Amino acid sequence: MPFPSTRMRRLRRTETLRGLIRETELSPAHLIQPVFVVAGEEVREEVGSMPGIERFSISELVAEATEIATAGIGAILLFGVPADKDESGSGAYDDEGIVQMAVRALKEAHPELTVITDVCLCEYTSHGHCGFVRGGEVDNDLTVELLAKTAISHAEAGADAVAPSDMMDGRVGVIRHQLDEEGHAGVPIVAYSAKYASAFYGPFREAAESAPEFGDRRGYQLDPANAEEAIREAKLDLGEGADMLMVKPATPYLDVVRRVKEETAAPVAAYHVSGEYSMLKAAAANGWIDERAAVIETLTSIRRAGADAIVTYYAKEAASWLR
Ligand code: PBG
Repeated sequence: MPFPSTRMRRLRRTETLRGLIRETELSPAHLIQPVFVVAGEEVREEVGSMPGIERFSISELVAEATEIATAGIGAILLFGVPADKDESGSGAYDDEGIVQMAVRALKEAHPELTVITDVCLCEYTSHGHCGFVRGGEVDNDLTVELLAKTAISHAEAGADAVAPSDMMDGRVGVIRHQLDEEGHAGVPIVAYSAKYASAFYGPFREAAESAPEFGDRRGYQLDPANAEEAIREAKLDLGEGADMLMVKPATPYLDVVRRVKEETAAPVAAYHVSGEYSMLKAAAANGWIDERAAVIETLTSIRRAGADAIVTYYAKEAASWLR
């Protein structure tokens, strides 16, 4: 038996050789930092279940944005936690709402920072569901109208892109139409197209105070067992005018990231969600994993699966490691 002439190890011998054949690139340019803005003055409060992540009042967020930009991150995804909530989530589409005011402050201080706003009602409704509840269910079409109002008020405030995360049917089309009518034809829609009813959102719901008071979100978010359905959602959103498609969470759904990319060829974002972040932080805090290596490996795997952009709570920290 002749020894194999192909030896895969030859090109693994030095860092330079490995660098020459590395297939996947991970850089701060691919990362989006999610941030939470809360009402009040001089507020900086750590989220218990998300070590390293704080909720900021507006001026503190503006200061934090300086750090994010200095680390090399060019885009943030903004979530608002309002002082008051009501049945119809009216704080979401209030021109003087928490997100609208934060966007104005951020864009004034950091015109070069790309501000993407989360468009959803769950942080603003008293019951914590992502829309208007009627007869124990979220009313799709009424909710879509409220989401479009929300998206427009974000665009008016200066948002660079809007990201509907509610999973209502038809919302991308209505948001696109109304943005265009109101003079915001240039504002892209980053659609959470394949958003699963996931257990990994737990820590976020603490941060955003958005846990549903009754029931769950399985009536509108995707069943974790389904991938074909995710592709249908992605194609529908594209047809309605989505500019970028999002898959969420990321690591348990890498197959979906890959399939959405291959079957649509559209720009794809993956959301490495709160629970994925907290698991890494918890294991690292216990000394069970090498945090830096595990995070870079995780983010690289999401890029390798086909994501163009990654939304991750690790963005700022990872950017400093990638320098
Ligand atoms: C809801 C929304 C959620 C997340 C982003 N937008 C939570 C949910 O559907 O309950 C989760 C993000 C995360 O876990 O990091 N609009």
